[in-house]
Amino acid sequence: MASHFNSTERQGSEGEETIESLTPAAAPQAETVTADDTGAFLAAADLAGVPTPAAVPDPVAEAPEVPEVPEEVHVVTAADPADAPSEGAAQVSESVYSSLAGDDAPAVPRTGTPTVSFKNVTLIYPAQPNKPALDDVSLDIYPGEFVFVVGHSGSGKSSLLRLITRELKASSGQVIVAGQDLTKMRNKKIPYLRRQIGTVYQDFKLLPDKTVYENVAFALECIGKPRSVIKAQVPEVLRLVGLAERMNHFPDQLSGGEQQRVSVARAMVNRPPLLVCDEPTGNLDPAISLGIMKLLDMINRAGTTVVMATHDREMVDSMRKRVIALEAGHVVRDQERGGYGYYGAL
Ligand SMILES: Nc1ncnc2c1ncn2[C@@H]1O[C@H](COP(=O)(O)OP(=O)(O)OP(=O)(O)O)[C@@H](O)[C@H]1O
Ligand SMILES: [Mg+2]
Repeated sequence: MASHFNSTERQGSEGEETIESLTPAAAPQAETVTADDTGAFLAAADLAGVPTPAAVPDPVAEAPEVPEVPEEVHVVTAADPADAPSEGAAQVSESVYSSLAGDDAPAVPRTGTPTVSFKNVTLIYPAQPNKPALDDVSLDIYPGEFVFVVGHSGSGKSSLLRLITRELKASSGQVIVAGQDLTKMRNKKIPYLRRQIGTVYQDFKLLPDKTVYENVAFALECIGKPRSVIKAQVPEVLRLVGLAERMNHFPDQLSGGEQQRVSVARAMVNRPPLLVCDEPTGNLDPAISLGIMKLLDMINRAGTTVVMATHDREMVDSMRKRVIALEAGHVVRDQERGGYGYYGAL
């Protein structure tokens, strides 16, 4: 089985250290980005059965009406969380996310080199020395997978994601991303790792004094892309997320959903093979969340591995993706085509 990683010299001055680069599962990246290949991501999406940009409707505009979902309280039981059909699952046919159900998608082969590998990872914050945020976590995420990370507030979701981006360093164990053990990675290599990981956060993290265009362009400027590439790629990706008409607006002139689409555009403009999303729909209502999820689903179907923390039960139950559930820093469930599961209000 061929490795999913390429050993590629990263951009930068000669003599710089190299880092293995992640390669998307279905959409191998070009070594050198030129203005001509700005459509590569979109072409890959097309090959994967995703509409071409011209045919991509505004994901928000076409969101159907949102059905009322009654508040439910679930109780954790030791026996049934993984297999019992959740009440959320029973509502699949009514869910706005049903159209994104992955049931028909071919299973991603879990072979070869994982994109992300945790081996007995423990994370202890100095402020809480007796209560590990993550405790002996082991998991593998393979190229092309879409993985939901779920669990109560404080269960360790964000901590897990921040280990992948090396915002945090594990206290013990190994976190391996792009073939690199991040627990041993020297700080000067971190920027090269992060070029390969797009990030989307609940609070968008846009620069308020830059326009939509400038926010997205900035991500490319930071990694030294030539102006010609930026000029070609930024409008292309903004068209993909349905914001071509808003490029000259500032973030505070946009709705929350539009701002999040800018942040998705910024995360994917460099076509990273791995996208890490921490509650990207946490501040959005369900109809707007659907538009964001359509984008993330499309990006995933074009080959990008997506790891997403969420509290959105309806979304998880409807989309039938892999679900990793955390409780108090432990993985308590890892399920293919899973549901959100049974959690009480703790
Ligand atoms: N900077 C920090 N210093 C000390 N403890 C922290 C820090 N950040 C998180 N924690 C603790 O680590 C545990 C896991 O937190 P984390 O933010 O990963 O949870 P989460 O699952 O993302 O929660 P939420 O759903 O509320 O975002 C919690 O007990 C939290 O209090
Ligand atoms: Mg969190």
